Amino acid sequence: MKTYDIAVIGGDGTGPEVVREARKVLDAASGKYGFKLNYQDYDLGGDRYLRTGEPCPDSVVEELRKFPAILLGAIGHPDVKPGILEKGILLKLRFALEQYINLRPVKLYDERFCPVKGKKPEDVDFVVVRENNEGLYTGSGGFVFKGTPHEVAIQESVNTRRGVERCLRFAFEYTQRRNKEKTLTLCGKTNVLTYAFDLWERTFHEIGARDYADVKRDYAHVDATTMWFVKNPEWFDVIVTDNMFGDIITDLGAMIQGGMGIAAGGNINPEGASMFEPIGGSAPKYTGQNVINPLAAICAGQMMLDFLGETEAAKRIEDVVISVVREKVKDLAAGRMGYSTTEIGDMVASAI
Ligand code: IPM
Ligand code: MN
Repeated sequence: MKTYDIAVIGGDGTGPEVVREARKVLDAASGKYGFKLNYQDYDLGGDRYLRTGEPCPDSVVEELRKFPAILLGAIGHPDVKPGILEKGILLKLRFALEQYINLRPVKLYDERFCPVKGKKPEDVDFVVVRENNEGLYTGSGGFVFKGTPHEVAIQESVNTRRGVERCLRFAFEYTQRRNKEKTLTLCGKTNVLTYAFDLWERTFHEIGARDYADVKRDYAHVDATTMWFVKNPEWFDVIVTDNMFGDIITDLGAMIQGGMGIAAGGNINPEGASMFEPIGGSAPKYTGQNVINPLAAICAGQMMLDFLGETEAAKRIEDVVISVVREKVKDLAAGRMGYSTTEIGDMVASAI
């Protein structure tokens, strides 16, 4: 029987609760579709950091590197200063494991949950391919004269031809595989960021014309993109963008698909250890109350199976999630679903 080793990082806050439900669903799917998932738990997060002073030792990174996939709950602890766990765990793994793509589907499952009036599931169905290893996230820059009246803070956006090109190639190939409108939109800011997005734009058209002639190329400035997410989300099929813009527009994307209760993403290294996560965060105020929505984590598990090649099982999970969203839940927000965290997990698992 086909067996996959999966590293599990429950993490902080409600992370472990939602990951538990995702595993329930993954186990139901593996039982039905005839493969096996071997989980190995990793204790990473704020509590470990407060105990040991180390967010994520290099030895753990080396262990994680050996897994085909990692399932992550959430990182973020109220007693740890912002930035430490984000940089020390999440970004460290994204960079060290060369997860150079952050894949974020934006798909509305039920009209009731779209805050934009009149938009239907067929209108909100696109995917954002966010570059995940470069841009403003590399930590390049620094202070000069820190703490003096002459203080200077510089934060540089790093864009390499190799990094940009591999991201664009992934996006073109993803657009071909998705086979919907066959349109890839580059989201940038060519009118102001005339170095970074000049490189992006030239590379986009150069490799697009030469190697992906069947994919239509489109362009939108990032500010206009946010406007169109609200006004005309139906215009988009696949969007490719840099790390910072991708971070910003996918939170807006999550809102138009129904909120953080449903939004999932994958940190992908096409040849290595990829990491799948609900994008909503650790929600400390809901921790331990059995009220958080586990559907985003379940969708992260679904993306993981799809990545591993278990496409039928992944499709089944998505279909069941759609019917639970459409026919059962009252709301996608924590505490308002009409069901507890465990009840939602049970419902999805038993339907599978
Ligand atoms: C995300 C998050 C992270 C990011 C934070 C927690 C570092 O917002 O995954 O979108 O900025 O990438
Ligand atoms: Mn974000």
